[in-house]
Amino acid sequence: MTKKNQTREQASRFDLNSVRREWDVASNAYADAQERGLDYYRLNCFGPAMVDACGNVEGLEVLDLGCGIGYFSRQMAEKGATKVIGVDISPNQLVHARRLEEQERLGIEYIEGDAASVIYNLPEASFDLVTACVSLVDMPDPGRVIRGAHRVLQDRGRFVFTNTHPVTDTKTREWVRDADGNKIGLEIGDYFDESPIVFNWISERYKYPFQTTGNSYTLQSWMRWVINAGFVIEDFIEPNATDEAIAEWPGLDDTRIAPTFLIVVGRRDGRVKPQVD
Ligand SMILES: C[S@@+](CC[C@H](N)C(=O)[O-])C[C@H]1O[C@@H](n2cnc3c(N)ncnc32)[C@H](O)[C@@H]1O
Repeated sequence: MTKKNQTREQASRFDLNSVRREWDVASNAYADAQERGLDYYRLNCFGPAMVDACGNVEGLEVLDLGCGIGYFSRQMAEKGATKVIGVDISPNQLVHARRLEEQERLGIEYIEGDAASVIYNLPEASFDLVTACVSLVDMPDPGRVIRGAHRVLQDRGRFVFTNTHPVTDTKTREWVRDADGNKIGLEIGDYFDESPIVFNWISERYKYPFQTTGNSYTLQSWMRWVINAGFVIEDFIEPNATDEAIAEWPGLDDTRIAPTFLIVVGRRDGRVKPQVD
């Protein structure tokens, strides 16, 4: 039940079936907004930073977890990755991914299933790069997925993910505004409440409103999963939008007041052993 001061709903259900169902319902609106170029946080904030964080991907074999309609998988293939496999739990998201692959063949293979299971059925040490673009936050067991990413990476391979920022994407959050209504700060609360959260996707960008449920782990939990899995953290990025992007999409001013996304770059290093739980 939502506490009195909470501005966001707590989830009543968060498991593989509910996640699959929610993303199946969301899929047409999500794909439509992406294809019409309205996903402005991606286009002007975390998207370019996530691509940069992956560095030169020419000749690499890439596994993209929670690939959705394949936006990021396609970027990896377009930038020269020789093999890209996308994994997603939502059949409807993959209908769009495969339709886009039909329209323009990049040789991407899509696998339907829970990333936390699929990743343990793939051969060990078989990828150069594992990515998760705003998707770990939608998964019920991200710690298991992160350990799986370490397992399927070759030595010196990298794991790069972006998520909504756990410090600001909290159950209680309220913009502080000046007398003219401009945002000047963000109040957050319930940071340490790690129960799942409901995201309401209500915006003129989406042709119908939808809800998805995601996890709500602290920054400490995320970083411990990455470190305990055996990754050496090579970079940590809090992307924000440029003045030009904010002039075009004023809603992006959020990203300059408080961090909206984070990007973590971890490297598998054979000398560092994973911590056993
Ligand atoms: C916000 S979308 C991001 C999609 C894509 N990475 C992108 O950049 O547009 C999150 C995706 O994660 C998928 N997802 C959620 N839980 C999953 C799981 N356990 N295994 C695989 N995919 C999952 C959802 O179906 C959805 O397509």
